[in-house]
Amino acid sequence: MKTDASKTQVFVFIGSTSDRDYFSEIDAYMSYFGIHYELEICSAHRNPEKLRALLVEVEKRGAEVIIAAAGMAAHLAGACAAQTILPVIGVPLPGSSLNGLDALLSTVQMPAGVPVATVALGKAGAVNAVVLAAQIIARKSNATAEKLRAFKQKGCRL
Ligand code: RP5
Repeated sequence: MKTDASKTQVFVFIGSTSDRDYFSEIDAYMSYFGIHYELEICSAHRNPEKLRALLVEVEKRGAEVIIAAAGMAAHLAGACAAQTILPVIGVPLPGSSLNGLDALLSTVQMPAGVPVATVALGKAGAVNAVVLAAQIIARKSNATAEKLRAFKQKGCRL
């Protein structure tokens, strides 16, 4: 569920307004798992200072997971991973003339010591990022763990 800043558990960065459609389903999944989240449009290339400031703030506020999604030369997830100790889930997005292969390789091929947990391309990746975030949060939240068990029982769909 969308939330006020003090309750944010998951912070979602997308690289551009043109990426929004890929994230159209996440509100339903976040709500199902009872996860408080915020979503911000912030490009690693166009808004590097804003990205840095937000990462510092989000970590201070106690968020548990970062999701970062971008297309083309997708450096957003890696740029986040470079500047936070929170786990970063990267969602490569299609839409370029290379159909997302560029974003996939940019997101997944992080150097040793700076991991990005890369999920599937596009809408499936956006959903999987939420489920993976729920699995991380469930290590400390029985309520989220119960939701995940029920989700598995009914075929991993809402
Ligand atoms: C990436 O470049 C964005 O994440 C987007 O997928 C792609 C194109 O961005 P726009 O030129 O549409 O803003 O940084």
